[in-house]
Amino acid sequence: MKKALIALAVAGSFAMTSVTALAAPITIKFSHVVAENTPKGQMANKFKDLIAERMGDKVVVEVFPNSQLFGDNKVLEAMLLGDVQIAAPSLSKFKKYTKALQVDLPFLFKDMAAVERFQKSDAGVKLLTSLESKGLVGLGYLHNGLKQLSASKPLRTPADASKLKFRIMSSDVLAAQFEAVEAVPLKKPFSEVFTLLQTRAIDGQENTWSNIFSKKFFEVQPYITESNHGVLDYMVVTSAEFWNGMDADTRNGVQQALNEALVFGNEIAAQKAVEDRQKIIDSGRSEVLSLSDAERAQWVEAMKPVWKQFEGDIGADLIEAAAASNM
Ligand code: SIN
Repeated sequence: MKKALIALAVAGSFAMTSVTALAAPITIKFSHVVAENTPKGQMANKFKDLIAERMGDKVVVEVFPNSQLFGDNKVLEAMLLGDVQIAAPSLSKFKKYTKALQVDLPFLFKDMAAVERFQKSDAGVKLLTSLESKGLVGLGYLHNGLKQLSASKPLRTPADASKLKFRIMSSDVLAAQFEAVEAVPLKKPFSEVFTLLQTRAIDGQENTWSNIFSKKFFEVQPYITESNHGVLDYMVVTSAEFWNGMDADTRNGVQQALNEALVFGNEIAAQKAVEDRQKIIDSGRSEVLSLSDAERAQWVEAMKPVWKQFEGDIGADLIEAAAASNM
């Protein structure tokens, strides 16, 4: 009897080992909308490589750039349904899930160092948990850079933007920002922007040097105003169900690889803001306009009332904490 039990236990443990050895790796589908030669594209690929090097037997990352799998307007729904495991939408695209992330207010951050300080502050770290009640977990932030205004005509003062149609991300803050200068904001997916500009269905858009360059917006927009009026930053998110479904060791390994990929992505963001701006200037396809202090002051004056408009949604404390990071 004893022998039979031992044989059974040995057979059982052998079977378990085989099952473990044969267990299919966890697949992480990482969906994003930008090109591969951007901060987010490179960060996603770095994450994939780090996971393959360190945990290839347990976890596989598949990256889908250029809205190949989902556009930003659908990706979070898809995540909650388990069709995608990681995404990094811009903070302007979370409105449906939380109002706290609407810190894409015009002229809130003076530079990317201020954004970094804010995200590392208690208020910034706390925002990573602001999606918990919706079943989403914030895993970290990634920078892209400061946004510029591109248009079919030169924009030097807010009056120049009056009545022009601008594509915006799905953000009420950004809608209010353009309404503040009497322009017409249109919420459209990123994947449609080039065609909308090329066909003159819209007059302009706002984006970072990296997105304007990698998506060739500069080829169909004769003017870019170096306004640095807002920030394009991302939150890397996953679903709580997926995240908590992994064992602690695997989860820690994935988070560690992601943290390293984010550091790498932020370095790329800083480089691209300089290099892609220069490539656009060198192309001669689009004239880059600098604003005088007096011109810039007019944009600030026109757009800053938007802060008050959204104070109730975002929270005065949060806006104050973000603004304090400029010091
Ligand atoms: C992105 O950088 O992920 C897209 C930004 C946009 O929709 O303009």
